[in-house]
Amino acid sequence: MGQEYNPVLVKNKNNNPKNASSALIKARESDEDVVLNLSLRPARLSEFIGQKDLADNLKIAISAAGIRGEPLEHILFDGPPGLGKTSLAHIVSHEMSGKITATSGPAIERAGDLIGILTNLEKGDILFIDEIHRLSKVVEEFLYPAMENFQIDFIIDKGPYAKTIKFNLKPFTLIGATTRQGLLSSPLRGRFGMFYHLDFYEVEDLAKIIRNSAKLLSMDIDEEACRSIGQRARGTPRIANRLLRRTRDYAQVNKIKNINAESACSALDNLGVDTMGLDDFDRKVLRTIIETYSGGPVGIESLAATLNEEIDTLADAVEPYLLKAGFLKRTPRGREAMDLAFTHLGLPRKHKELF
Ligand SMILES: Nc1ncnc2c1ncn2[C@@H]1O[C@H](COP(=O)(O)OP(=O)(O)OP(=O)(O)O)[C@@H](O)[C@H]1O
Ligand SMILES: [Mg+2]
Repeated sequence: MGQEYNPVLVKNKNNNPKNASSALIKARESDEDVVLNLSLRPARLSEFIGQKDLADNLKIAISAAGIRGEPLEHILFDGPPGLGKTSLAHIVSHEMSGKITATSGPAIERAGDLIGILTNLEKGDILFIDEIHRLSKVVEEFLYPAMENFQIDFIIDKGPYAKTIKFNLKPFTLIGATTRQGLLSSPLRGRFGMFYHLDFYEVEDLAKIIRNSAKLLSMDIDEEACRSIGQRARGTPRIANRLLRRTRDYAQVNKIKNINAESACSALDNLGVDTMGLDDFDRKVLRTIIETYSGGPVGIESLAATLNEEIDTLADAVEPYLLKAGFLKRTPRGREAMDLAFTHLGLPRKHKELF
């Protein structure tokens, strides 16, 4: 299997300086992740831990396509950052023995950027478009015939001499990944044949991922420590791997040879990651909702403005876990802090009727 990265097209999405404060723990990919993930990223479906239903369905689809000798239908993976969408795209290309070309929605500025990529695809190759919800309308429309009939139209010349030329492409599989299904236009969504939603991982699965990564990093760590890290990893493999690396730093500096639950917990306490996996920024978000907005409801725009954060960061990387873990709930009028948020932060719940 070959991998093709176009350095011009693949942009680091974490280059927003506003994210720097929360970059340590948020699930967005850091530069360190990019390097280390190459070794920690599962290469085959059999190495992919958790998301059992998804993995089983994907396995059947891959085998069936293999038996028919046809490329897979276009696939859309959606779910919060760091849950394995990119890994799955690479796994699919590996399992289908196709070449993968990776790019991302915001990196494709003009439809022309896609012509070269599409015409270079061979039968069964994978085109992976990360953050596909951020494709421009023009590029998206250019993709429709490519996805539907493996054809593209391009216009040569201008004015009265303009001509549309149809170009046939080899049957390829488009894999789209998105953290925001809801922002995808329905014509684009309708052109995918398979949809897979990735949910947060169970602690057991995270502990397994941590154990495997620890082996690859030659770390001496016991079972209980893997679980403790898993418990604080916000249901997210990328965070699990990151916390493991920080634990390794802590152990090295403190000359700890065998990492047990106690040393793992001290390492994570040191980072400000609490027993529920929340970091300073998560607590700041909850505190702001409780103290500035009397527990909510508050719209995400106002919240982002108060915190001086990007709305996207809150919506993609912070809020989903707080909702899932029961710290927040979403109402038509905005986000509201739940009892768990008050008890976890040790803040009194004031009765709203009094105000
Ligand atoms: N099921 C899994 N088993 C083992 N490791 C995993 C699994 N899922 C993710 N990982 C690890 O987590 C890292 C992050 O996963 P990945 O980059 O695929 O997430 P993503 O969903 O594409 O995130 P983003 O939305 O930020 O692009 C991987 O490099 C890999 O090390
Ligand atoms: Mg990704």
